[in-house]
Amino acid sequence: MDSFEEKDGEAVNPSTEPTIREVISRRMVLKGMAAGGAFGLFGCGSMGIDMVGSSGAAPGFTELPRSTDDTHHVPPGYDAQVLLRQGDPIKAGAPDYDPRTQTGAQQEQQFGTDPDFIAFMPLPKGSTNSDRGLLGVNHENHRAAICFPGNPKQLTREQCEVQIAAQGFSIVEIARGGSQWLVLQDSGYNRRISGNTAMRISGPAAGNARLRTHADPTGTRSLGTLNNCAGGTTPWGTILTAEENIQNYFSGDAGKGPEAAARKRYAISGKGRYRDWARYFDRFNLDKEPNEPNRFGWIVEIDPYDPASTPVKRTALGRAAHECATTAVSHDGRVAVYSGDDARMEFVYKFVTNGKAGSSPDLLDHGTLYVARFEANGKMRWLPLVHGQGPLTAANGFASQADVLIEMRRAGTLLGATPMDRPEDVEPNPLTGNIYVVMTFNERRTAAQVDAANPRANNKYGHIVEIIPPRAGGKPDHTATECDWGFFIVAGNPADPSHGARYANPPSANGWVAAPDNVAFDPKGRIWISTDGQDDAGGFNDSLYAAATSGPARGATRCFFTSPVGSEVCGPEFTPDGRTLFLAVQHPGDGSSFDQPSTRWPDFRPDLPPRGSVLAITKADGGEIGT
Ligand code: FEO
Ligand code: CA
Ligand code: CA
Repeated sequence: MDSFEEKDGEAVNPSTEPTIREVISRRMVLKGMAAGGAFGLFGCGSMGIDMVGSSGAAPGFTELPRSTDDTHHVPPGYDAQVLLRQGDPIKAGAPDYDPRTQTGAQQEQQFGTDPDFIAFMPLPKGSTNSDRGLLGVNHENHRAAICFPGNPKQLTREQCEVQIAAQGFSIVEIARGGSQWLVLQDSGYNRRISGNTAMRISGPAAGNARLRTHADPTGTRSLGTLNNCAGGTTPWGTILTAEENIQNYFSGDAGKGPEAAARKRYAISGKGRYRDWARYFDRFNLDKEPNEPNRFGWIVEIDPYDPASTPVKRTALGRAAHECATTAVSHDGRVAVYSGDDARMEFVYKFVTNGKAGSSPDLLDHGTLYVARFEANGKMRWLPLVHGQGPLTAANGFASQADVLIEMRRAGTLLGATPMDRPEDVEPNPLTGNIYVVMTFNERRTAAQVDAANPRANNKYGHIVEIIPPRAGGKPDHTATECDWGFFIVAGNPADPSHGARYANPPSANGWVAAPDNVAFDPKGRIWISTDGQDDAGGFNDSLYAAATSGPARGATRCFFTSPVGSEVCGPEFTPDGRTLFLAVQHPGDGSSFDQPSTRWPDFRPDLPPRGSVLAITKADGGEIGT
């Protein structure tokens, strides 16, 4: 009997309430135990820790063909409702979207651009309600060519203000009304968090001299969050949003001054995509505010249930091109936060809290940060990133833990971490506790750089590694520093030997994956994999795939959703009952322009550009997705 069971039925209180995922996990583990199941990890053999039954059932739906067209597709019997579009008003009295008269002030009251991560947070807080909740959505980028008429080569101040307001995060209350979801536009929970929102900087790097600016001599208060890619939720009902490609925001002479070497490792060249911002706002000018980039690249914690709360940059989790920050409660109540640093040859991280879930509002300020090293023998180690230990000393330029965190990449290299093929999502399966690490691709890896965990040179298709933590008292030990690992899939077309793809069980002809990015687990513990870059890798639009994670169909991916041309698929998120799947369609029409878009999805109106949007996918018969 799994000891998760003993917690089931506990009274919920605000400080100790279990996450929805935990609740699901406990129930489903029991279901799975009853059903039994077999588990085999290819690449390192069977690990013998199966507790899964339902995750072995192949997802049931009529598979889609590949698509290169200008709209989305779901299987027969499914409905995809466009729930929230870039520019949709989310505040009482907010103006409708008009791309020709858009301003920053208007955009601050509207749903942002480029939706990525999605969190469904049930209402009331602590419940498992699947009919009403808060949708927390990341807004990763703003694309001038698609959003502004005339494809401007140099942006005006007003256009830069729109861009700053369009990124960050949205919180929107939604409710189910019959077969449709409704956006409650006047809800007091609705909120935009943007590049302008006041943030608190917390943890070991807070106040450090390298985080101080003219506007904030304390180094503890910053303005805004940017390039919010994926994220995660915590057991105490907050959302973690990850600041990813922060190198795109700063202009000036990056090679000048004491930060020059550190900037280089973070690809801060002074010539990023948003280079015009520095013309109008000094904080993005490296020559005037050399420390501002050190105030980005963090994990930001947001309380969606308190609209007046100040988002907190949790520096204890380190600074990187963070793809995500996903949590798992360990056997002893402590919490692990997993994250990938999405850049070629960068690393995978986890943070383990000192305290137990719910024991402190600042739990994420105190704990141990680790970086991953994968060995060829099927073991992997989490190496502590702790100042004063090993090479992380003043002799190597680390005066304190703050330096270790600000330059986490260099610290990881010194410890001998394994350089990965662009680690995107790192997501624990709530049923099993196994952690799925998604490498999207790395066409720059050379034959000499191939290693056990990154087995292909010129990796065009990506792969997914599965980490198996040891068990303690029958539960996953997410605090462990030694785990087993193997491949879940080595993506690509297994029918084409030149791809070097490997699957434990063959995908369907249209079901092979390229460029995996985000993953989610349904209530049965089956994996759903979204992609970003199949147009380059395979010549077809990005998609969403599903597969069992155990049993005879383990890893046999099948295509559930295809996305409009130019877009990537992000944020897969299920309601607790598994009956709604939220998907973010990011940057439809990318590569074209406002005036000549390759699609006008989702409105198909001649006066509107393509708009990144969140879909709510349901089954016509009201059943669970994939059954
Ligand atoms: Fe924003 Fe790593 O994808
Ligand atoms: Ca991503
Ligand atoms: Ca990506």
